[in-house]
Order: sequence, then C-alpha cells, then structure tokens
Amino acid sequence: MSSVVVEARAVRKAFGRTEALRGTSLAVDEGEVVAITGPSGSGKSTLLLCLAGVLRPEAGEIWYAGRKLDDLSESDRTRLRRREFGLVLQFGQLVPELSGAQNVALPLLLEKHDRGAANTLAHSWLERLDALEVADALPGEMSGGEAQRVAIARALVTGPRVIFADEPTGALDTVSGERVLGALMTTARESGATVVLVTHDNRVAASADREVVIRDGAVCPAPVIR
Ligand SMILES: Nc1ncnc2c1ncn2[C@@H]1O[C@H](COP(=O)(O)OP(=O)(O)OP(=O)(O)O)[C@@H](O)[C@H]1O
Ligand SMILES: [Mg+2]
Repeated sequence: MSSVVVEARAVRKAFGRTEALRGTSLAVDEGEVVAITGPSGSGKSTLLLCLAGVLRPEAGEIWYAGRKLDDLSESDRTRLRRREFGLVLQFGQLVPELSGAQNVALPLLLEKHDRGAANTLAHSWLERLDALEVADALPGEMSGGEAQRVAIARALVTGPRVIFADEPTGALDTVSGERVLGALMTTARESGATVVLVTHDNRVAASADREVVIRDGAVCPAPVIR
C-alpha cells in the first residue's frame, strides 16, 4: 500500500502581483520519484520550495509525514529540513568560502557529526558523483557541472528521506548529466528515498515514476502516468 509522504494542498503563493501558484495540489508517495515539468515561469521552482518548507505559502497547506509544515516554527522547519530533506537548487548554492569537500561535509557538521567521519563521508560521496577532483577547490574555481555534482553530493550525504532537486542536470552536458542523474536515482532507489525533481529534460522526466505538468501555477488536470 502506498502512503503519501509530502503533499501540497490547494497552495497559493504570489510574488507581488505575480501569482506563482494558484491553488496547486500534489501528493507524493513514499519512495516515489516524481518529475515536475512545465514551461518556464509556470511555478515549478516555487512549488518545490513550498514542498521543501523553504517558502511559506499564503494559502493552502504543506504536509510532511503527517505533520503540517505551516504550523512549525522557523527553527523547527529548519531542523526538519536538515534531518529529513536533501535540497538541490536551480542556481549555485555552495558556500563560496568552503572547498568542495567542506561544502559536502557541512550538513553533517551542522548535525554535530564527528569532523573526521564527516570528511571521510564527504569524500566518498564526491567520488560517487565523479567530483573528487574538486574536493579541495573553491566553488569559484569549479565549472558549473562540477559545482552541481558537489551540490548533489551535499544533498545526499545525510541520507535524506526526501530529495528535492531543481534542474539537477541543467548545467551539465548530456553524458555527465546522465551519470549524475543515475547516481541520484540509484541512491534514492537503494535507500527508498522519495524524489521530487524539476526538469526541462524529457528523458529525465521519462525516468521518473510519474510526471506532473505545471502550467500557470496549477497542476494540469491529466497527469502523465507511466
Ligand atoms: N523571488 C521571486 N520574486 C518575484 N517573482 C518571483 C520570484 N520567484 C518566482 N517568481 C515569479 O513567479 C513565477 C513562477 O516562478 P518559478 O520560479 O516558480 O517558475 P519555474 O517554473 O521554476 O520557471 P523556470 O523553468 O524558468 O525555472 C514567475 O512568473 C516568476 O517570475
Ligand atoms: Mg525554476
């Protein structure tokens, strides 16, 4: 039997006069890989950030594992995000002053892991994502693709229950994009993690369990079931 782990219920979110989400609902089952697609500006990133508890909707509800995120304080939401979620954002989000390995180890250190163990784990994740060569480099010295691989390693290092990824292969060429996505999917399938992934890439969407199309801030009525 499937069980819903993350859910948006009739969520509305506006930026000034732009209505990014207009009553959007989406329920994702535990262990499911869902691809969110749709035109630029349709509200995909906004929906992802609301589901991940980064943005607070103006109306509607966000649920995670039986808890209503909207009811949690900012610090409880931050703690929950750190412990349960892995987040890969659309635009560069590494800490510029930290090396690749330090960026990956950061979420472990925030959770009070031992420094040596965090460093070892960070290196093993960088290796898995084919980014070991930038372990000692600063983000400013990395290519877009390298930085993206480091960001994915950082999102996976804590063993999250839900992985939220916004265009995780957008900055990569086809071959490295496939490798990175392969690593992300294998990790998710192995650990039973749920994945919510925004993508423009039809092949990426095709590798998901389900594709959800967003247009003008709402989920299209006929989702594509694979
Ligand atoms: N921080 C913000 N401030 C103002 N407007 C915003 C902000 N974030 C998003 N928007 C607007 O909300 C709408 C939805 O944006 P969103 O980033 O969710 O789209 P998207 O589907 O992810 O697009 P893309 O495929 O280009 O990444 C757009 O009209 C966008 O301009
Ligand atoms: Mg976006």
